[in-house]
Amino acid sequence: MREVEPGSREWAQSVAQEHLLLEREIATVRQWWQERDELSLPGCREMASRVRRLRDRVVEHFAEEQIGGFFRHLAMSEQQSRRACQLEAQHATLRRRLDDLLQRLESGAPDAATWRGAGDELDEFLAVLQEHEANENRIFAQSSGLELQAVEEASDE
Ligand SMILES: [Fe+2]
Ligand SMILES: [Fe+2]
Repeated sequence: MREVEPGSREWAQSVAQEHLLLEREIATVRQWWQERDELSLPGCREMASRVRRLRDRVVEHFAEEQIGGFFRHLAMSEQQSRRACQLEAQHATLRRRLDDLLQRLESGAPDAATWRGAGDELDEFLAVLQEHEANENRIFAQSSGLELQAVEEASDE
């Protein structure tokens, strides 16, 4: 995300756009896991590389939110402030879960049972991450007055 004044309309649009892109990436990984044919070692390696890419992407996304004024912007009312704090605190937990999963996938050659377990954990994690992002979007839409759909259409022009 390039540098723009936090709180400006341009900034709000770039934040909303970044959330839409991340949402799509999460959905793609989820769909891949749900549609996989069978448990195999190449599949397991693919999962490890997908989780590695997602992990790097998510870590960057979280860092941008934490230093880029996103949570300060969310915390505009007293009620939202508490929610914004909770959402920011979730970053550490989500990142730990992702790092643990990645470590399991990248350590040695896991058998089918390990892979299945990792897949279940991945699916569960992605659902929690989607919920985290959806909650951010909801509060963000309230505080910025920006409709996410409108941003998506504007960016396609
Ligand atoms: Fe977040
Ligand atoms: Fe986010």
